[in-house]
Amino acid sequence: MKIDILTLFPDMFEGVFGESILKRAIEEEKVKINVVNFRDYTKDPHNKVDDTPYGGGAGMVLTCQPIFDCVRDLKTEDSKVILLTPRGTVYNQDMAYNFTHEKHLIIICGHYEGFDERIRSICDMEISVGDYVLTGGEIPAMLLVDSITRLLPGVITEESFIEDSFSSNLLDYPTYTKPRVYEGMEVPEVLLSGDHKKIEEYRYNESLRITKEKRPDLLDK
Ligand SMILES: C[S@@+](CC[C@H](N)C(=O)[O-])C[C@H]1O[C@@H](n2cnc3c(N)ncnc32)[C@H](O)[C@@H]1O
Repeated sequence: MKIDILTLFPDMFEGVFGESILKRAIEEEKVKINVVNFRDYTKDPHNKVDDTPYGGGAGMVLTCQPIFDCVRDLKTEDSKVILLTPRGTVYNQDMAYNFTHEKHLIIICGHYEGFDERIRSICDMEISVGDYVLTGGEIPAMLLVDSITRLLPGVITEESFIEDSFSSNLLDYPTYTKPRVYEGMEVPEVLLSGDHKKIEEYRYNESLRITKEKRPDLLDK
């Protein structure tokens, strides 16, 4: 899979893509990530990419030309263009799974007060990462890339994510590691029993209990 990220702040991505599982996935070419500064596409003599809003109001608005030209340069018939915006469909694990089947994603990060409304016309979908407003689309873009990449074949074992929270409308079960007793708190006996059937049953019941307690809405889906 190839992912192009259109941003004015490419340096923000270095740390996130340069560590841990994402770093390995990029090195092993499980995913190819291209961070593009769309300022490089501006035809403005002063390199501007934003302007004041028509009708007045606070902040600066990203102009059409650099983003239109950048998307047209990168887009192929296999591309899906995603606009990051608080107005979009709220992102979830099912969407992350569906994106793993795409060959090429182009993700547009807004900034400042947002972007010219006409930029929506060149996008296939609009995504929000939740009901709050961030300073820019860079953190949402990192979030999308991380959640999609870990589901790509060979990045982590399928066993690792198949029981993750949200994979089956349930939250994950509790996990423990050594030592067996820590500050008086003991690991549940069943996990030490070696009885795989009982362990599976315990984990399923715990997942169900936790989901009922914390996210009963998931069970209605
Ligand atoms: C300060 S925000 C603009 C908010 C805009 N004025 C509004 O109220 O919808 C700047 C950019 O950050 C990104 N952004 C902020 N919050 C977001 C969210 N919850 N989901 C996705 N992108 C977001 C978008 O790309 C947005 O254009």
